[in-house]
Amino acid sequence: MKKKQPIGVFDSGLGGLTVVKSLIEQMPYEDIIYFGDTARVPYGGRSCETIQAYACQDVDFLLQYDVKAVVIACNTADAMARKLIEQRYPLPVVGVVGPAAQKAVSVSKNKKIGVICTRATVKSGAYEAAAKAVDPAVRVFTRACPLLVPLVENGRFAKEDKVVQIILDEYLEPLHREGIDTLVLGCTHYPLLKDAVAQCLPDVQIICSGEASTDTLHEMLVANDLLNDSQDAGVHRYFVSDDAAGFTENAELFLGRSLDGAVQCVQI
Ligand code: DGL
Repeated sequence: MKKKQPIGVFDSGLGGLTVVKSLIEQMPYEDIIYFGDTARVPYGGRSCETIQAYACQDVDFLLQYDVKAVVIACNTADAMARKLIEQRYPLPVVGVVGPAAQKAVSVSKNKKIGVICTRATVKSGAYEAAAKAVDPAVRVFTRACPLLVPLVENGRFAKEDKVVQIILDEYLEPLHREGIDTLVLGCTHYPLLKDAVAQCLPDVQIICSGEASTDTLHEMLVANDLLNDSQDAGVHRYFVSDDAAGFTENAELFLGRSLDGAVQCVQI
């Protein structure tokens, strides 16, 4: 029975849909319950205590739907609350930080890795810790980019956009000077900026945090005999804590296609 239960995915808002996108591509038979905490987004400038409290409430919400595993699709929540969630909840938990850091270490040749993310993710030191756990010799340069989430949420991410170029140049220049050969887009919103980032740093390999986590989730489901063996397309349900209409309107940007289920507004 457990195999048929849905996978729970949460994020501070819309951005986690970039993770859902790769999840649907890789595991089309899985049912998904997505929760976006749109009433309290952004998490990235908040304290550790607040992020931990919000993240646990998000997991509590998902558990009402009997999820078989939880994906923390928010880098900030993963960086600050992952250990707490693993201790508190007896089910497989997959984050975005560890898989992205591991992938970055495996592809980097000069072992100089850049990470762009929120202030809270920088403060947590989670990316350095995850990368150094794989290879202690690796050097990780993290940079908070607080202007990027509002930029993307306002539809500004095209590589031809002059404002995008100016802001990215400023954020990426110090990482370029350090000689990084690999850059992790360590925030759910940043995959939309991938082309613009690649234009700024043409010789740098770019890792999107969400993509790597789907591989880890697949391995974990297989190891726990939890992979859904159904041949029917999965059912996807979306919940938010505010502004279901706004979420629906912008979802396509992040998901790469229109939502295949109604969005329900809930109080958690
Ligand atoms: N989802 C967050 C992350 O990946 C970005 C938005 C926020 O600050 O809440 O870090």
